[in-house]
Parts: sequence; C-alpha cells; structure tokens
Amino acid sequence: MARIIKEEEALEEALRLARGGLPIAIPTETVYGLAADACNGEAVARIYEVKGRPRFNPLIAHVADIKMAERFASLSPAARLLAEHFWPGPLTLVLPARDDAGLSPLVTAGLDTVALRCPKGFGARLIAALGRPLAAPSANSSGKVSGTSAQAVERDLGERIELIVDGGPTPVGVESTIVKVENEELVLLRPGGIAAEDIEAVAGKPLQRGAKGIQAPGMMASHYAPDAPVRLNVSHVEADEALLAFGPERVEGAEGARATLNLSPSGDLREAATNLFAHLLALDAARARAIAVEPVPMEGLGEAINDRLARAAAPRQ
Ligand code: TXA
Ligand code: MG
Repeated sequence: MARIIKEEEALEEALRLARGGLPIAIPTETVYGLAADACNGEAVARIYEVKGRPRFNPLIAHVADIKMAERFASLSPAARLLAEHFWPGPLTLVLPARDDAGLSPLVTAGLDTVALRCPKGFGARLIAALGRPLAAPSANSSGKVSGTSAQAVERDLGERIELIVDGGPTPVGVESTIVKVENEELVLLRPGGIAAEDIEAVAGKPLQRGAKGIQAPGMMASHYAPDAPVRLNVSHVEADEALLAFGPERVEGAEGARATLNLSPSGDLREAATNLFAHLLALDAARARAIAVEPVPMEGLGEAINDRLARAAAPRQ
C-alpha cells in the first residue's frame, strides 16, 4: 500500500525511490503524474505495468529546464520561443529526438520524436535533484479518469505503488496542451491546460489541427472514462441520471437529478477545468444510470474540457 507524504517532506524519499527505479506518484500543476527515471528502461517498463498502458503509447519526458530539454531533443526557434514563454507550465512540445541521448526507447515507443515538458513545483525540484528526466503519464489506470488529488490516486493505484507525494488538488486540472513542432510549423496534438489561442498569440501563427492523422497515439480510444455512461450536451436530465452542470442556468429536469455537481456556477472555464475529473469521479460514486453533462462553451480551456468529456463519453472497449 502506498505511503502518502506531503510534498514539503517528500523530496528525499521520492529521490531514493526514483534512483531505485520505482515509479512514484507526484503532483504537477496539471494532474498527478506516475513518474520514473526516463533513462532507466526497467523503471519505465514499470510505469506501463502499473497503469496497464499499451506499450505503443509513448510517454512525456519531464525536464527541469530548457537546458535539460536540449540534451534530448533539438529545439527549433519556434520551439524555443514557446518553451521560454510557457515553461515551467502545462505545455508539452513534441520535438525531433536526439539519438543516443540516454532516454529509454520505451519512453518514445520507438518514434523519432520525443514529448518534453517542464512542470512547475515539486516535479521540477525532483528532476533537478535526479539530474535526469522523469517519464510521467497521468497517475491513473489506463483509460480511467486522471487523478487530480493524492486521494484519487490512492484509490486507483494505491495497491500498486509505494509512494504518493501529496501536493493537494492540482491547480490546472486537465493535462498539458501538446504541440508538435515540425520545422517551424505547429500542430495541436492535444488541447489542454493552456488555451490554443494563448499559444497562437505567442507563436504569432495559427496552430494546425488534426489534419495529419493520429499523431498522439494515446488520443484515439475511449479515455477518462468513469464507470457510468456519459451523455453530452444534454438539454434535459432523464430519470435516474446524475448531472454535471456548468454555469448559472440549469437544464430541464435538473431538480430530479440523482446528484448534481457544477463545474463552475459562474461559468468560469479555468475553474471548470480544475473541477472536471474530481466531479466526474464524485458523480460516478452516486451510482446513477448515467452522467448527463450540460454544454460547455468551446473557447479557451473549454476546448480541453470538451475533448476530455468526448473521450469519457466514447464507446468503451
Ligand atoms: O499534463 C500532462 O501532460 C500529464 C502530467 C503528468 O505531466 N501527463 C500526461 O501524460 O498527460 P499522458 O501519458 O497521459 O499523455 C501523454 C500523451 C499521450 O497521448 C501520448 O500518446 C502523447 O502524449 N505522446 C507522447 N509522446 C509523443 C510523441 N513522440 N508524439 C506524439 N504524441 C506523443
Ligand atoms: Mg493520461
């Protein structure tokens, strides 16, 4: 059973386990990560085992700073501009990987690109102390809702790992935005914690979207799935459904919902992102026939929220 240690007291123990090749759960600003030494193949293999994650789905390597990123990938001017502006923070850059840089091939699942991100807070301190990147997918069983608190991680993975570093609820609440940098072209592979508009404003050009087939291999299937079925963009609540609400106004039949949680009563998309996964888990616990979800606007972080909701509602394997 995992021990839970507050982040202020956890660095030494986290470092000991990471050096020993064991995966540990750590807080990041987006969601909790299941982290292991990205240069240790056995350690990375354990991440896949703990999550039950398909081996063809590559991992993000988390770095301490741009200097560490340069050891593992080549950063074009456009990539450097984005890294300088948004790191540390919820932006992942997919870049041409450097050969023989020491990363386990399991991290990239054999691709010639590598996904790099510099997280805020505890993760960055741990990576700097380790001196090597940490591979870290979200800390949840493959296909399930991402953990945004130490308690959510404990319920899902507590039996399978030794340590959960508790940094409280994660402030952003959805995973990082993933942008692939191909020469000077920018392709949005996954909407996330930084709105596409904000990246476009810094880059000075539009993000390309979805034209080139599946580029983030983990982005296709049903994902983020609670146990209950999920019904999207509802205009009314049906018998025995739970309601995931958004904003000040309620849809028809809301008063009959088995349970109701509001992503943001004032209609704030940042607040909604922060609450998304915890609310999905809490409504799941109401054991309703389904979770009905009110419409969430597509602007700003709404793109990431709608992306996660669509996957939560997708047909299950
Ligand atoms: O906020 C986040 O990004 C969190 C925290 C822990 O940092 N991590 C996270 O990791 O969401 P994960 O493994 O759940 O999602 C990583 C995504 C997957 O969809 C994977 O397919 C994609 O990144 N990915 C990784 N390497 C890639 C590459 N070289 N090319 C394209 N997609 C890649
Ligand atoms: Mg994930």
